[in-house]
Amino acid sequence: MGKLTGKVAVITGASKGIGAEIAKTFAAEGASVVVNYASSKDGAEKVVAEIVEKGGKAVAIQGSVAKAADVFNLFAKAKAAFGPLDVLVNNAGVYAFAPLEAVTEDEFHRQFGTNVLGLLLVTQEAAKHFGPDGGSIINIGSAITASPPPNTSVYTATKGAVDSITHVLAKELAPRNIRVNSINPGGVETEGTHAVGMIGGDFEKSIVAQTPLGRIGQPTDIAPVALFLASADSGWLTGEILLVSGGLR
Ligand SMILES: NC(=O)c1ccc[n+]([C@@H]2O[C@H](COP(=O)([O-])OP(=O)(O)OC[C@H]3O[C@@H](n4cnc5c(N)ncnc54)[C@H](OP(=O)(O)O)[C@@H]3O)[C@@H](O)[C@H]2O)c1
Repeated sequence: MGKLTGKVAVITGASKGIGAEIAKTFAAEGASVVVNYASSKDGAEKVVAEIVEKGGKAVAIQGSVAKAADVFNLFAKAKAAFGPLDVLVNNAGVYAFAPLEAVTEDEFHRQFGTNVLGLLLVTQEAAKHFGPDGGSIINIGSAITASPPPNTSVYTATKGAVDSITHVLAKELAPRNIRVNSINPGGVETEGTHAVGMIGGDFEKSIVAQTPLGRIGQPTDIAPVALFLASADSGWLTGEILLVSGGLR
């Protein structure tokens, strides 16, 4: 029996990167998994196919976390597929880095719209779908809030908001036995970090130099910690922010 046998999990932004690995890990432990994505249909379907091939249960459901109507639809479809919710992973996120003089309204709203408003809209809707026994919400923040580099004011601010939301909602949802914790990853090699040029350049070298364990992370470094927070093993944890960063702080 797996650690999540019989459980239902929604993972936002699971078509690639950290979210995809969490989806596969949860499914391997017996969860029925909703693989949410915004635009990468092929990526999401590949994740679902890998899970199903191994005997797991998963469906891909499109929807932008930043749009309330999409979020409503996501949970309606998730409920129709698998029933009440046990685990939510707020993983969907966007990032881009720029010095103060290059900050724009559009970029501010793009990052806050997904990373903060999106997380709140998803959590608000998810809260209606947990069963009477409660469940677990895992927010993916960032170790960047512990050690903020220059040229990251907008992104670091979004993840600072995520840290705060974790603390607030842990208290707000505790009476319903819904635990709320964060994983704050250090630098992790994903499609996203490749796309913004973080991997293979000076940015990666600087992150590795500041990381005591001396390497960039992989999604496989993050997913087992998400499994811990999703499962009964962490039943007495709420409001925690776990730095999963090779010691970067
Ligand atoms: N990688 C790192 O070094 C690192 C470090 C700390 C924290 N994080 C955080 O970890 C999370 C995942 O990062 P990653 O590197 O794995 O990212 P990634 O490779 O860029 O993947 C991002 C995922 O989020 C989805 N997404 C983006 N906007 C969305 C929206 N509006 N609605 C629904 N899904 C959306 C993408 O789906 P589509 O492709 O369909 O758009 C994709 O599945 C983010 O919250 C990020 O801030 C990452």
